[in-house]
Amino acid sequence: MKALTTVAIALLVGAAPVHADGDWIRPVTHAATQEECGACHMAYPAGFLPARSWSAIMGDLENHFGENAQLDEATRAEIEAYLVSNASKGFRLSVFSTPPIKISELRWFKHEHSHEVSSAMMRKAKSFSNCAACHRGAEQGYFDDD
Ligand code: HEC
Ligand code: HEC
Repeated sequence: MKALTTVAIALLVGAAPVHADGDWIRPVTHAATQEECGACHMAYPAGFLPARSWSAIMGDLENHFGENAQLDEATRAEIEAYLVSNASKGFRLSVFSTPPIKISELRWFKHEHSHEVSSAMMRKAKSFSNCAACHRGAEQGYFDDD
């Protein structure tokens, strides 16, 4: 029974992010996050993941999707605090479920990207993680521009 409840609650992780103003999501405004988390890909807006996801990501930077993204402890803690305090509050995560660490694997994301994404766009972007390849306004917080 407990396992079933966990599964049911984990499915709610698919809830769409709460957009602050219609189709706008607050871009990263914190200098260290912009710099350190924008070095390999765009600095993803904090509001796309719940707090526990950011803590999981920030707690394992040595094993970051096959890269070592380790930071000195002061910077790491400062970035985690920024991401956690600006995280999405629209998610309901079970205490038993593993927090998602990819925006592009969330249910709302898959739903939004199941049609309309041409194979030409996908070839150019290479990965769904490369938001700005398809969303020209991504760095400014706009994702409905195409
Ligand atoms: C050394 C390069 C590097 C740095 C620095 C880096 N990342 Fe990443 N990150 C990656 C790679 C590689 C991926 C996986 C991309 C893919 O799957 O195509 C990734 C993926 C992600 C994803 C999932 C994207 C998705 O598809 O939803 C998140 C979230 C993320 N990073 C957060 C961060 C945060 C927060 C920081 C700053 C502390 C950071 N990254 C710094 C290399 C980096
Ligand atoms: C290969 C191209 C591509 C990539 C990469 C991509 N998207 Fe999208 N995205 C689209 C298309 C096409 C749509 C549907 C048309 C639209 O609404 O803009 C869409 C829709 C969306 C929407 C819904 C917009 C709305 O209000 O209707 C959001 C939010 C979004 N994407 C976020 C992201 C994020 C965050 C990333 C990176 C983690 C990303 N996308 C990566 C192509 C892409």
